[in-house]
Amino acid sequence: MPDTHAWWQRGVIYQVYPRSFQDSDGDGVGDLPGILTRLDHLVALGVDAVWISPFYPSPMADFGYDVADHRGVDPVFGTLADFDRLLAAAHARGLRVILDYVPNHTSDCHPWFQESRASRRNPKRDWYIWRDPAPDGGPPNNWLSEFGGPAWTLDPTTGQYWYHAYLPQQPDLNWRNPAVREAMLDVLRFWLDRGVDGFRVDAIHHLFEDERLRANPPNLDWRPGLSPARRVIRAHTMDQPEVQEVVAAMRRVTDSYPGNRALIGEAYLPIERLMAYYGADGAPGFHLPFNFHLLSTPWEAEAVADLIRRYEAALPPGGWPNWVLGNHDRARLASRLGQAQARVAAMLLLTLRGTPTIYQGEEIGMEDVPIPPDSVQDPWERRVPGLGLGRDPARTPMPWDAAAPQAGFTAAAALPWLPLGPDWTTRNVAAQQRDPGSMFALYRALLALRRAEPALSVGAIAAVAGEGGMLCYERLHAPTGRRLRILLNLGLETQRLEDGGGRVLLSTLPVAETNPRWLRSAEGLVLVV
Ligand code: NOJ
Repeated sequence: MPDTHAWWQRGVIYQVYPRSFQDSDGDGVGDLPGILTRLDHLVALGVDAVWISPFYPSPMADFGYDVADHRGVDPVFGTLADFDRLLAAAHARGLRVILDYVPNHTSDCHPWFQESRASRRNPKRDWYIWRDPAPDGGPPNNWLSEFGGPAWTLDPTTGQYWYHAYLPQQPDLNWRNPAVREAMLDVLRFWLDRGVDGFRVDAIHHLFEDERLRANPPNLDWRPGLSPARRVIRAHTMDQPEVQEVVAAMRRVTDSYPGNRALIGEAYLPIERLMAYYGADGAPGFHLPFNFHLLSTPWEAEAVADLIRRYEAALPPGGWPNWVLGNHDRARLASRLGQAQARVAAMLLLTLRGTPTIYQGEEIGMEDVPIPPDSVQDPWERRVPGLGLGRDPARTPMPWDAAAPQAGFTAAAALPWLPLGPDWTTRNVAAQQRDPGSMFALYRALLALRRAEPALSVGAIAAVAGEGGMLCYERLHAPTGRRLRILLNLGLETQRLEDGGGRVLLSTLPVAETNPRWLRSAEGLVLVV
């Protein structure tokens, strides 16, 4: 029987953060022509699709997540013609291209907001969320910005506050207004017409807020050291019921195009709530609501096994799973787990059931780079310093080659927008391509195995167990009867294996070091059983 799975089910997604991937014009910031010159790295690695974080015209208050024009390319990243060339070059190599779509908010410099704030009677006033001050002149209620401070900013000219889930420079659009909806759905059509293969939809859980502006309840678990935004429980500012209908509208637009365009949703939600984002009868949802739960689950075999079982059990009929281990908002995997366990995590990500997303640089084990306070770029760190919330450490430039100035990221005389990691002379793509024991070699082997083994890409998962540091599960491909067993040692102790473990297909350690009777700390194996 022919395999009926779509590319976004079988494939592996790779996230490019364009500022830090490859600079082509020597301004110290990566760009679209730069990405084009590195597409062969993605082919060599063996991924299927590239998701590119925003490159649209933007004042860069939130490094592109503040979009001032949804239909263009910021000059720092190139031109629309550069984008078309990149898309064609990716397609020529069999790579799909997924764009970042930011529906919750625009930049305060977007012409829509400029009009909206011009006067209370402006036709675009209602495109954003404007409210009168509270009786004491303060913000309308206690809602807080994710990036610190109130979620309301006063516009002195018109005497009202605008709402922003993130920065004041990122005013929230009013999705209850049908004109906003049409204009934003047209943005999808603009890029679909150009040939993109799908979208990663930013911050979808923030799309609506309570219309009655009810106060968020206090979070009794908050304590100093946590993000100030968590002082309240976001009962009335997140995951509101109206959102599903808008996701369905987005989905109808993408589905009206041929070629299996994919819709991926960014929603940091508990498993039970996340499932609603798969949609329901008559209201289709995301193909892949991002599953971020590995990012917040302790790196312990029991906890990860429990997560896998709960997530799998919660999936709605036909809902396709997916897994994420890192992105441009979270600490680097190797810094969270150490290099040895980062290899185990790579094997986990690429052998679980469901579409994996790899963040750029994880394939060479990049680590967080400490940024001195006077060099901080991230607006979150600037607004809420010292709590470790800043995202710069995970956004530093890709080190390509020790033999090139600036690791090959930018021109010799340029100042990279964030510093290269101090280990770039040893940890870089070229060096790891030559080293069969490198992280890159492991990723490439895992990706090749996933491509070769339908049990890994589309097979079932079974026998998920976690005990005493060891996580195991099986992947089964019924049509061929192929059965693989994955054993991962997340702990510090060597684990004794039952006999008859099977034939080793791949190890996180050099094969010479593996032993069929023992699983060392940080060793992971894929076996045929
Ligand atoms: C999520 C994005 O990943 C993050 O980088 C951004 O700051 C917020 N959404 C706001 O757009």
